[in-house]
Amino acid sequence: MRVGQAREDGAPRRRTGHGGSRAEPVGVRGSSSLPAGASGEQIFKSSGCGGCHTLAAAKATGSVGPNLDQLKPSYAAVVSQVTNGGGVMPSFSGSLSKSQIAAVARFVVSATQ
Ligand code: HEC
Repeated sequence: MRVGQAREDGAPRRRTGHGGSRAEPVGVRGSSSLPAGASGEQIFKSSGCGGCHTLAAAKATGSVGPNLDQLKPSYAAVVSQVTNGGGVMPSFSGSLSKSQIAAVARFVVSATQ
């Protein structure tokens, strides 16, 4: 009688690549968990902007960077600063998409002007 032994006639099949384990760059401070279509305010809060900036509309009281209520930056200035960083402020171009940066910039501008 044959004992159903494993046949050795094929290359072992590796079942990899379906675990959803694609490596993603980790955002500076975990902002990659943002829901799609997050509002500028949500992006501001979850990106850690408020840890460094004061912005009353977001109840943020950080004091590492300039007070945004007083600075009243232009839309272009926010986009540029968030994209490129500057001083001790990190660049968010690796953790926020262009549309997320645009959304957070619209939020800062509309909250301060
Ligand atoms: C680690 C602290 C830190 C974080 C986090 C941070 N900033 Fe800043 N930010 C700064 C500092 C410091 C400056 C001043 C930079 C300089 O003097 O060049 C600054 C400058 C700015 C400016 C001024 C640009 C200008 O025209 O002078 C804006 C607008 C700004 N940040 C928005 C944001 C937003 C929006 C976020 C979140 C996406 C954010 N920042 C996160 C520290 C931070």
